[in-house]
Amino acid sequence: MLSLPPVIGHRGAAGLAPENTLESFALAADLGCTMVEFDVRLSADRVPVVFHDDILDRCTDGSGPVAALTLAQLKRLDAGDGQQIPSLAEVLALCRDRHLAVNIEIKPDVGAEAETARLALEIAGASWPTDRPLPLVSSFSHQALAMARQVAPHWPRGLLAERLPKDWRRLIDIYGCNTLNLDHSRLTPKRVTEIKAAGLAVLAYTVNRRSRAEMLWSRGVLAVFSDRPDLLVRG
Ligand code: G3P
Ligand code: MG
Repeated sequence: MLSLPPVIGHRGAAGLAPENTLESFALAADLGCTMVEFDVRLSADRVPVVFHDDILDRCTDGSGPVAALTLAQLKRLDAGDGQQIPSLAEVLALCRDRHLAVNIEIKPDVGAEAETARLALEIAGASWPTDRPLPLVSSFSHQALAMARQVAPHWPRGLLAERLPKDWRRLIDIYGCNTLNLDHSRLTPKRVTEIKAAGLAVLAYTVNRRSRAEMLWSRGVLAVFSDRPDLLVRG
C-alpha cells in the first residue's frame, strides 16, 4: 500500500488562492500540506501547463481554449492575484524546493490523451529528484493512464472516476493502478471496504469540511483532496 499524507492540497490551496498557481502551491506548503494535486494539459506549442479547465474563461482574464495559445501567450494572462499560468516544470521545481509530494493529474483535451501523458511524464521523469516519493499519476482518461504506464512504469497510478466503474477491477489491472480516486459524495462505506480488500488505496475528492474528512478517514479512505487544507491539516 502506498504511503500518502491524509490531506492533499487540491490545485494547491484552491479555496484560498488562485487555483493551480505557484501562489496556491506555496500557500499549501505554508499551511502544512506535504502533498499537492494539480491538473496538467498542453499549450498550443505542446508545453505541459498546470491548468484545470479546457478554456481560459473561468480562471484567467483570457478566453477560449487553453490549447489555442502558446506558452508565451498563456504567460501574458492573469490567472488571479497577478499570477501566471505555470508550466509543469515550474510547478515541479516549486514542489521540489518546498518538499511537497505531488499528484500529477493528466487532464488532456480530447484527442491529446496519450500525448499529454507522454510529454508531462517525460518532463517529470527528467526533473523529479530520485530521493523523493514518486509522483502519483492520475487521470480520468484511460488512454492517459496507459501511456503513463508505458513512460513511467514504476510510478504509482490512480484511476479517477466520479462513480466507481462496474469493471473497476479489470481497469486497475489493465492500467496497473495503485489507487482509486473517487468523488467523496458518491463513496459508500461498502465501496471503500471492497476497494481496500482488493489491495488498493482509496482517495476522495474534494473534501472541504473537517467532519466529513474525519468520517472518510475513519472508514478507511487513505487521503482526501482539499481546497481548504487550513481546515484539515494539523488538528
Ligand atoms: O484529482 C482529484 C480531483 O482534482 C479530480 O477532479 O475536476 O478537480 O480535477 P478535478
Ligand atoms: Mg484535478
